[in-house]
Amino acid sequence: MKKFIAVLSTMVMLGTLASCGDNSTTTDNGSSNNGTKTTTTAKADETTTKAEESSSGSKTVGIAMPTKSLERWNRDGEYLKAQFEDAGYKVDLKYSDNKTEQQNNDIQSMIADKVDLLLIAAIDGETLSQTLADAKAADIPVIAYDRLIMNTDAVSYYVSFDNYTVGKLQGEYVRDALKLDSEAGPFNIEFTAGDPADNNAGFFFNGAFDVLKPYIDEGKLKVPSGKTTFEQVATPTWSTDKAFENMQNTLASYYSDGTQLDVALCSNDSTALGVAQAITQDYGGSNAPIVTGQDGDIANLQNIVDGKQSMTVYKNVSDEAGVTLDVAKAILSGQTPDGNLSLSAEATFDTTTYDNKVKVVPSYLLVPYVITKDSLDKLVDTGLYKWDSSNKYLESTASTT
Ligand code: GAL
Repeated sequence: MKKFIAVLSTMVMLGTLASCGDNSTTTDNGSSNNGTKTTTTAKADETTTKAEESSSGSKTVGIAMPTKSLERWNRDGEYLKAQFEDAGYKVDLKYSDNKTEQQNNDIQSMIADKVDLLLIAAIDGETLSQTLADAKAADIPVIAYDRLIMNTDAVSYYVSFDNYTVGKLQGEYVRDALKLDSEAGPFNIEFTAGDPADNNAGFFFNGAFDVLKPYIDEGKLKVPSGKTTFEQVATPTWSTDKAFENMQNTLASYYSDGTQLDVALCSNDSTALGVAQAITQDYGGSNAPIVTGQDGDIANLQNIVDGKQSMTVYKNVSDEAGVTLDVAKAILSGQTPDGNLSLSAEATFDTTTYDNKVKVVPSYLLVPYVITKDSLDKLVDTGLYKWDSSNKYLESTASTT
């Protein structure tokens, strides 16, 4: 079955690449949140003036993405490249195959090429300090994209979603679906969290766990495996295969006696894919456990239609690219972006939450929301998805972006 899931992952990847197309010169080289905040309101105007275009024309933005093997980063890369190029910038986009050493080398080569600004979605947020010290020495500003970069003063801004809220929305979905405030239970839940090297993963887990903990304490929610800490349920590299194996083991060890699994709380879609597959294959119960996710990856939207996943927390990464462009433009024109910066999508300016152990990095946090089978049309409304020819499943419009 390991083989099956490997094939599944490959199919997802290929499906993604096929649907995203490859209109760029990119390569994969082988392969608790309660700070003081100001809300910045979205503005619709996406027009780039001629003056802006001519001032950006000579500037190059280096974009370092983690991997093409997870769908969302393909969409991020495509949207970022298109939006920065539309605004008149040159773009050097590199994917580093989820290898930290390769990402350091890729960024070093962009520094050597004297890019004017770096946008980095870190593979391991802890491993870029020396490289970013070199960027700082070369006067290249750095924006941490989606994932915070740790242990460095060289990162100027962070653009992401409200990561704690992502987890909170998952926890609230479970609370409401099981009617935990009125039903007696007990219900059984298992957790699958993300990559410990990704600073976001703890935020997602904590956001969900904080909502559900009172019900666990009360005995309404039980965790038969006993695995209730982030470390116990983390999934290195957010791997679908690893999540599949972990869930298989949990089902074999704690559910083979007929114990009912009510919820598999998964932090994101790549892990939810593996967990849903393990449930389909190895779970003997007659109920369909609630499975959560995050991202709106195509394979997961398909699982939502097929009843194998209950929800996904959607993050509009085209908007994330747009806000990143807003911040980058301001930096490159000599401004210091703050809560007054006019943004192309709704985001909160946060100066307290994201401490990278050297500084609190000023952050623009976009707004995630829940998608279920009943609200798939909301995704179509974004223009980033469309119904396929069978009118049953969604496909991405990313390749035409
Ligand atoms: C996180 C990101 C999520 C998810 C995950 C795996 O950093 O915020 O959207 O995709 O990585 O790639």
